[in-house]
Amino acid sequence: MPNPKLADRIRNLPPYLFSAIDQLKQKAMAKGVDLINLGIGDPDLPTPEPIVRRLQRSAENPANHQYPSYEGMIAFRQAAADWYRRRFGVTLDAKEEVLTLIGSKEGIGHAPLAFLNPGDVALIPDPGYPVYHAGTLFAGGRSHLLPLKKENGFLPELDRIPKPVLKKARLLFINYPNNPTSATAEREFFGEVVRFARRNKLIVCHDNAYSEVYFDGVKPMSFLEVEGAKDVGIEFHSLSKTFNMTGWRIGFAVGHPRILAALGKVKSNLDSGVFQAVQEAGIEALNLKDSFTDEIRKIYQERRDTLIAGLLGLGLKVDPPKATFYVWVGVPKGFTAMKFTMHLLDRAGIVTTPGSGFGKCGEGYIRMAMTVSNDRLMEAVGRMERLLS
Ligand SMILES: Cc1ncc(COP(=O)(O)O)c(C=O)c1O
Repeated sequence: MPNPKLADRIRNLPPYLFSAIDQLKQKAMAKGVDLINLGIGDPDLPTPEPIVRRLQRSAENPANHQYPSYEGMIAFRQAAADWYRRRFGVTLDAKEEVLTLIGSKEGIGHAPLAFLNPGDVALIPDPGYPVYHAGTLFAGGRSHLLPLKKENGFLPELDRIPKPVLKKARLLFINYPNNPTSATAEREFFGEVVRFARRNKLIVCHDNAYSEVYFDGVKPMSFLEVEGAKDVGIEFHSLSKTFNMTGWRIGFAVGHPRILAALGKVKSNLDSGVFQAVQEAGIEALNLKDSFTDEIRKIYQERRDTLIAGLLGLGLKVDPPKATFYVWVGVPKGFTAMKFTMHLLDRAGIVTTPGSGFGKCGEGYIRMAMTVSNDRLMEAVGRMERLLS
């Protein structure tokens, strides 16, 4: 079939902005350029050893080789509930209020299928993690974008959403600590979200994938710490960024039991549970001594200090992130996000991500991921200095 007719939902996906960068990257690699890749949010550090060892042991148990349950092992869900109580002071019923996921992306992508009818609106941050919009589109919903602007601390202005949009809105996605801006949110904002959701009958999906990548000892909070949050929504959590486990595919959602049950229904019809050996390794991760994650944070903090000092020294506009391993950098005058990204790649062998790839309001910024060593970050700053001076 020379020209297969594809579904509208595939044809309507936003253009893949990164393909031009990918092409340039391939070309540079073919020429033997020593690329410094600050483009992807994938930790370079290894998964802590006790977790790996637990997987090895668990993989040898034939009881773990069969289909796992959809909602996850009760032992894993209990470990997640215990972790939430220790870390956030939030009490959860492991049976009703925790759902295991094949990474938080799985739950985020499926959520619109559970909560939107065709034509319903999802409120989505711009710039934002692209899966919120893709999931909405696949469910036949419409995205209404909420601009995240520097002057508002990269928080959405909920009171500016037009009334007719609100009437059709069912779902609100928020994400703090935020990808790509690295902004964090305080209790006051989450309280406003709960009141807003109640008033407008919205389901809130808070994406908390980066809660453990924080700096200067200031811990980001859980949405569920706020009074009434569990009545209006759920929170997605991931072991990917916290424990350097992006390839393992394990995360979970917590919160309102009926909302989780609906998400679970989509899951049980479309995919399966997480490999039990990975869930057992996940239990090990959630019970790991804090010293492991402290060490990971120390490494990122050193990288952050190196990169921020370097970028400020070059006269670039950047605020030191309080959390996440991303740095959101204003592009110099005369460049668009895409042009600056291509310039850095082509002339300095540095891979970054144009902010415009995360939505229209990401224009004017690039995102740098601190997922390379401190030495490589210093090398990147040196190359930028030679390029921009
Ligand atoms: C904001 C945000 N949410 C969710 C995810 C998904 O993470 P995972 O599916 O590995 O849990 C990512 C991954 O990059 C992310 O940046």
